[in-house]
Amino acid sequence: MPHDFIPTLQSNSIFSLVSKAATSKNLKAYVVGGYVRDVVLKRESKDIDFVCVGSGIELAKEVAKLLGQDAKLSVYKNFGTASIHHQGFEYEFVGARKESYRSDSRNPIVEDGTLEDDQNRRDFTINAMAISLSEEDYGVLIDPFQGMEDLRNMIIRTPLEPAITFSDDPLRMLRAIRFATQLHFDIEPDTFDGLIQQAERISIISQERITDELNKIIIAEKPSYGFQLLFHSGLLKLIFPEMANLQGIQKINGKAHKDNFYHTIQVLDNICKMTDSLWLRWAAILHDIAKPATQRFHEKAGWTFHGHEDLGAKWVPKIFKRMKLPLDERMKYVQKLVKLHLRPIALVNDKVTDSAIRRMVFEAGSDVSDLMILCKADVTSKNPERVKKYQSNFKKVEKKIEEVEARDKVMNFNPPVSGEEIIEVFDIKPSKVIGDIKSEIKEAILEGKIKNQKKEAFELMLKIGKKKGLTAKRS
Ligand code: CTP
Repeated sequence: MPHDFIPTLQSNSIFSLVSKAATSKNLKAYVVGGYVRDVVLKRESKDIDFVCVGSGIELAKEVAKLLGQDAKLSVYKNFGTASIHHQGFEYEFVGARKESYRSDSRNPIVEDGTLEDDQNRRDFTINAMAISLSEEDYGVLIDPFQGMEDLRNMIIRTPLEPAITFSDDPLRMLRAIRFATQLHFDIEPDTFDGLIQQAERISIISQERITDELNKIIIAEKPSYGFQLLFHSGLLKLIFPEMANLQGIQKINGKAHKDNFYHTIQVLDNICKMTDSLWLRWAAILHDIAKPATQRFHEKAGWTFHGHEDLGAKWVPKIFKRMKLPLDERMKYVQKLVKLHLRPIALVNDKVTDSAIRRMVFEAGSDVSDLMILCKADVTSKNPERVKKYQSNFKKVEKKIEEVEARDKVMNFNPPVSGEEIIEVFDIKPSKVIGDIKSEIKEAILEGKIKNQKKEAFELMLKIGKKKGLTAKRS
């Protein structure tokens, strides 16, 4: 019996409470699944799954009674499950089940079963461990597939034949890769082979669930590992073909370009050291996504990818839509960063004008600092001298941004002359000409022809109006 479990269980009164409830209902109850795994890994978990031989609903009702008023019980009769929300914890109760699956559906045929049946139908050995809560063997670990050993050896392995476990629920293929990435585990070779063989079955899984797992991989500490597993298993080309398509090197006349897949996942790892933001990480994933589509070879210049930032930005909405990612300002943010990701690099030159800086700050707005993070992450050179040079160049750009912004305030650009004012001064009806005047004023500010202030902008407005044949009612 692994004694290290007992203190954890006893220190949390829910376990003795469930034990009491189970005894009073004459049921055998167990803590099972992810919570047991996380106790050993010392990961905090607020979700605890209980399984009992018999009715999970009956057990949950008894536990809720013992917990008292602030326990919120929900019963899902159709699924034979119940959950209790209590002081920030979520307790799930289910009767032990035996499940078998049909080939065309994720919905299993479910029958009552033993604890062993229940453990058999779980995804990985490390997720199939149970701890008894019965009075006679309280705290005993029931680990039929040596999950503890796999935890110690940092291995993801299916309890049954991988083909059965994955075919029963193909989402588990992504879960295997997600757990490997989150926990820095290896996937056991037979399990990985099963994954390769069953990869096509991912097609029966809903996009929402696929994307959920993908996002969990992306917010891990080192997502490149997950993406390599996705690539080598064949899953990446099924769930994210554009990204799989980045892989490969072409060589003409001895000139090769870099492998954009490995470059991208390196950029992703780099950015993970600088930000936890899922969306900035998505920008790193997508920054070069259109490189294969824009790649050309020229005798003199070698490989070019002209316009990949614009085409990539154009693809962002359709990729987000297909992936069921949000189509709101988060998508627009990613799109903007993809579009602008080359701009700071173009601005390192000493001769660069303030107006080029102003334009970038205007376009990036308050996301300009995230854009700089993306640019820094984009440096994957192995040459330390070159890396140093890039870093000092970026510092220079950042300094210029600060100076220009302090003076010209174009980051959150607010037109110094409003549309209403133009209407009023020239006594005209709302029409296209107002937009034209505003945009000419904005251009003049960005170009540095006038300062970003009311007086100069108003004078320019009068001049533009006159040129357009309008008469000012006041000056
Ligand atoms: N499970 C499974 N197959 C799945 C999903 C879940 O066998 N496709 C089982 C595993 O035993 C898992 C348990 O159900 O441990 C609980 O699932 P869930 O809460 O989704 O996962 P956790 O393992 O708790 O991990 P996480 O919360 O990180 O998803």
